[in-house]
Amino acid sequence: MDNKTIYILAIESSCDDTSAAVLCGNRTLSNIVATQKIHEEYGGVVPELASRAHQQNIVPVVHQALAKANIDKKQLSAIAFTRGPGLMGSLLVGTSFAKSLSLGLGIPLIEVNHMQAHILSHFIEEENYKKPSFPFLAMTISGGHTQIVLVKDYFDMEILGESLDDAVGEAYDKSAKILGLPYPGGPLVDKYAQLGNPRAFPFPKPKVDGLNFSFSGLKTSILYFIQRETKNNPNFIAENLNDICASIQYTIINILMDKIKKAAKQTGITQIAIGGGVSANSGIRQALKKAEEKWGWNTYIPKFEYCTDNAAMIGIVGYLKYKEMDFVDQSITAKARYVIQ
Ligand code: KG4
Ligand code: ZN
Repeated sequence: MDNKTIYILAIESSCDDTSAAVLCGNRTLSNIVATQKIHEEYGGVVPELASRAHQQNIVPVVHQALAKANIDKKQLSAIAFTRGPGLMGSLLVGTSFAKSLSLGLGIPLIEVNHMQAHILSHFIEEENYKKPSFPFLAMTISGGHTQIVLVKDYFDMEILGESLDDAVGEAYDKSAKILGLPYPGGPLVDKYAQLGNPRAFPFPKPKVDGLNFSFSGLKTSILYFIQRETKNNPNFIAENLNDICASIQYTIINILMDKIKKAAKQTGITQIAIGGGVSANSGIRQALKKAEEKWGWNTYIPKFEYCTDNAAMIGIVGYLKYKEMDFVDQSITAKARYVIQ
């Protein structure tokens, strides 16, 4: 099969980003993301509003993706879409759109697991980007997920650990909210953290067995700490913002690194690939770089555009499944809980 002639249109609508991409083989021709601003004023994603915004965005976003790729929909080989996991009302918009378009164009339909797509985004062809080889460990860290996965092959994955409560991005965003920072606060905590002392205020690390994570206790201890300190000094946050953020970041990065180190030790695998919005964090990037130098790990961080929710990562899975002729029919339905295997 000639890769150059395979054009996949991919659609992602699992949370609060409406995205469409066109891939030619394993290369991205376009990757359009409409981020929904409406949630900012609520300090978090409101599912009903997300679903409505997807309905408004999906047609223009798909048009833009086709136009930017300079591809007519008649040239498409197949349509790939996110089946889950995610918010049901959001998933339904992308799923029904993809089903209708595939029916209308008479081309195959490919269902994609969003978590698998985060991991397989490392296989999008990019200049100067070396892809991981199997087996490797993938750590997906975002506002919705925290997982460590053993990746034996494209479609042979085993979850080794995941968060039992909040995702790591949520821990960042909720801590930021306690500090009065706007949503999503993760990037701001990171920004201030770089100017502060990471050991200024020690926060307890949760004791969770195995390779699982827990972040809700950290959020509570930050809340109590801030309440206590601001009672004594109402200006405590303003006077110590950099140090507070640095201490939060230090704790979170330690939690992540402890688990990934444990996973590397347990499996003997030192190829570590990360993905998800929190991969942008300066602390995790530095810690991984250090691990490369200190322990000879090989670490992989995709382009930021492929770390956050996007349709190109759905498209690469679509392409890999297309080669296997792994198609679904019109009876397919969205799945809010969808575990990778
Ligand atoms: O992957 P993503 O765009 O969407 C989800 O699937 O959630 O991740 C968004 C999350 C947010 O929680 C945001 O605060 C966090 O990633 N984030 C960061 C940074 N950049 C984005 N967290 C910490 N440091 C950053 N630099
Ligand atoms: Zn995601």
